Amino acid sequence: MLNFAVHLIAAKMPDKNYDFKIEKTTHSRLKEIDFDALQFGRVFSDHMLLAEFEEGEWKSVKIQPYQELAFSPASCVFHYGQAIFEGLKAHKTASGEILIFRPDQNLERMNKSARRLCMAEVPEEIFIDGIKKLIDIDRNWVPDGDGKSLYIRPFLIADDDFLGVKPSAKYKFMVITSPTANYYSGAVKVKVERTYSRACEGGIGAAKAAANYAASLYPAQQAQKAGYHQLIWTDAKEHKFIEESGTMNLMLRIGDQLVTPSLDAQTILPGITRASIVALAKNWGYDIVERKVAVDEIVEALNNKTLKEAFGMGTAATIAPIELIGIDGVDYELSDFHNWDFANKVKNHLEGLKRGKVADEFNWIQKV
Ligand code: COI
Repeated sequence: MLNFAVHLIAAKMPDKNYDFKIEKTTHSRLKEIDFDALQFGRVFSDHMLLAEFEEGEWKSVKIQPYQELAFSPASCVFHYGQAIFEGLKAHKTASGEILIFRPDQNLERMNKSARRLCMAEVPEEIFIDGIKKLIDIDRNWVPDGDGKSLYIRPFLIADDDFLGVKPSAKYKFMVITSPTANYYSGAVKVKVERTYSRACEGGIGAAKAAANYAASLYPAQQAQKAGYHQLIWTDAKEHKFIEESGTMNLMLRIGDQLVTPSLDAQTILPGITRASIVALAKNWGYDIVERKVAVDEIVEALNNKTLKEAFGMGTAATIAPIELIGIDGVDYELSDFHNWDFANKVKNHLEGLKRGKVADEFNWIQKV
């Protein structure tokens, strides 16, 4: 198995307390937002976090009004693509508390991605405390209501103004937030991709790198022109085994077994929703396995009607049921997802947890 944690210039994380400078806006845009017509990721709340790394340390951390920033045209993120990001959500409970789901996992994954792309790691205090301070300041931006949340987008970019190809010595870590509705509004149609690849063994598929999303756009656009919402990626070597779908991990229920592609080859993004669903399924006593899943096995299960459920799992989408799978020119329809036992149970459980309605057995929830 390949080692994802390649260290080259991973910056040492100084063990210190950061002085958060806070500048609040004098012109809130809150009243301009139609919270009944939210889409995913279209509008941004009043404040953002900005931390700057240079000379081997995180020098400044600010929460400031959301604003455009100036960059040198030579900034290396524009040329060599050292850019990674995360995604998590804040939800409001019935009593008005604000909860976030497993931010520690986002921090861990961001720093794994940072190591793989030779970027400075972000200290916990800047990432977790920074997110909490930011959400606290913009707490009125966390929407109420089914499927609505404040999407939190932490991201890290390289900004040395130098055109030599090497890891940058300067970074900016930022967090912006966006009151948002679910990524997909209903069930999705997906196509198994047999030509293009999202990631290969030895590549950066397990990192949440902007480049992975850039690589996905053209093949996804082709699939969208053919009437699908997204692709199911297959392995880059033989295009025989499924990996993930669009921006989500995949779960299938074949017979009575839940099956999700294993992360062993380091080509799949290790989703936090995926890990949470695997943990819940095990805890509830479901038969669940993480293993290679061949496209042929899916065709067989579709033909003999043993593919009982199939859904994408991700932060933005939570659970996106699949209603149709296109494989090698044949479209296979799945049964009505409203009747699926596991997908609906786990979706309601996760929604309940995130809104404080369900006991938090695993200590996944943090209060802002
Ligand atoms: C997620 O669901 O985790 C995402 O990162 C989705 C985003 C790329 C829109």
